[in-house]
Amino acid sequence: MNMTILFSQALFLLVAVFGMQTPARSVWDAVYTEVQAKRGEETFSKSCAACHDSSEFASPAFMKQWSGRTVFDLFDEISAVMPMDAPGKLEKQAYIDVVAFIFRCNSFPAGETELDLKEENLRQIRIEAKGR
Ligand code: HEC
Repeated sequence: MNMTILFSQALFLLVAVFGMQTPARSVWDAVYTEVQAKRGEETFSKSCAACHDSSEFASPAFMKQWSGRTVFDLFDEISAVMPMDAPGKLEKQAYIDVVAFIFRCNSFPAGETELDLKEENLRQIRIEAKGR
């Protein structure tokens, strides 16, 4: 086996390993729909707006905190601890819709497919402060 083949095999392995660790998509890849964000906005006014202004979740500080983590992390945290006066009270669907609303507040692009509730899918979407 010559060195070129060895080298390309090593490179392939490297790409494969890193490819597995980095989520395939980001919030800039149109991962929610306008309709979903609209539902999320309604949930937000009913269940969150008493304590939060939506601009909080589009602030540089918020994005700094979440950038580099996955959509699952955000969904999981919100559904575990919010609303503060009744944690976990909402339907899972309502929480993921609120995540879509938060994404719209951040001007991430909407697309044709809603965020779904599958953990393995949500873990594939990275939160990123800026587009690539
Ligand atoms: C009764 C008041 C109240 C309600 C209702 C409420 N929250 Fe909160 N929320 C808080 C408080 C207070 C904090 C700060 C707690 C902390 O930082 O530990 C907080 C923190 C958060 C955070 C963490 C902020 C960060 O920087 O990571 C998120 C996200 C959040 N809330 C989302 C929501 C969403 C979404 C809803 C509606 C489903 C909601 N909250 C409803 C009071 C509330």
